[in-house]
Amino acid sequence: MDQAGGLRKQEDHEMEFDEVMPVAIPTLQKPVRVITVSSGKGGVGKSNVVINLSLAMCRQGLRVLILDADLGLANIDVLLGLAPQFNMSHVLNGQKKLEEVLIDGPGGVRIMPASSGIQELTRLTDDQKLLFLELLDGLETDIDVLIIDTGAGISDTVLYFNLAANERIIVVTPEPTSLTDAYALIKVLYAKHGERHFRILVNLASGETMGKTIFAKLSKVADHFLDGLSLDYLGTIPHDTAVTKSVLQQRPLLEAFPRAPASGAFLQVAETICRTPPNVNQGTIQFFWKRLLNV
Ligand SMILES: Nc1ncnc2c1ncn2[C@@H]1O[C@H](COP(=O)(O)OP(=O)(O)OP(=O)(O)O)[C@@H](O)[C@H]1O
Ligand SMILES: [Mg+2]
Repeated sequence: MDQAGGLRKQEDHEMEFDEVMPVAIPTLQKPVRVITVSSGKGGVGKSNVVINLSLAMCRQGLRVLILDADLGLANIDVLLGLAPQFNMSHVLNGQKKLEEVLIDGPGGVRIMPASSGIQELTRLTDDQKLLFLELLDGLETDIDVLIIDTGAGISDTVLYFNLAANERIIVVTPEPTSLTDAYALIKVLYAKHGERHFRILVNLASGETMGKTIFAKLSKVADHFLDGLSLDYLGTIPHDTAVTKSVLQQRPLLEAFPRAPASGAFLQVAETICRTPPNVNQGTIQFFWKRLLNV
């Protein structure tokens, strides 16, 4: 741990959680970027996006932790050929320490398998929530980016993570249903929860031109019906058979096929993300967990 890290930990232990937040952030804490990856429709490529963007950001020198919060079947660990023995529910029920549950993935990324623990998060008692926050505090100094695969749709869990994060990536494809479902997700977050900033990543397009056309379609509808909304074009990942092959090999595309067109696109998108932090106030990771757990 670096010196500043040691300092932060010491400070954290000395002060009450609620008191420390407003004064400590500017001087002691480097904000952790908390990014959700969601979609309206399932199967649009979110998990692959999460894995490959994470790897690409690791290559930019960032320390990345993936939180697999998808309750569906196509989990990050399966895509990476990992078989975690434990998950977040073991941390929540006190059987395991956080470090024992985190797994080291390829390319330097770390993964917090969460699937079966996610629903329990919403049902914790206040004491359990505080305990959990304390456990997670330790991560503040160890990571730069927390990237979350939320799964698809507009379930409470998906909304919950989107609202707690400070950056939201919505993955769409050229399929019309992917666009209408993405619009539905954005609309719920905007209309019911006042969320205004979204970054749109187009996957499975024939190329950048098509990606920009798809973005323009979504953006036009959103601008027309949702006043004050800001949709940013994040980039396009082309349809690429190397992605399917990498899934079959249970390896990240970036490692299995580094020269594939989709790999190049992922590196470019990661660079865009690193170059352009969100223009909204970033909280610390504790803020994220606090919002998430409604402490
Ligand atoms: N750019 C791409 N080119 C070709 N195939 C792709 C691309 N992106 C995704 N796929 C294919 O789509 C499949 C689904 O991808 P992925 O599991 O990442 O989607 P998802 O959105 O996470 O799905 P779910 O909603 O079920 O969690 C992959 O197994 C892969 O075969
Ligand atoms: Mg998935």
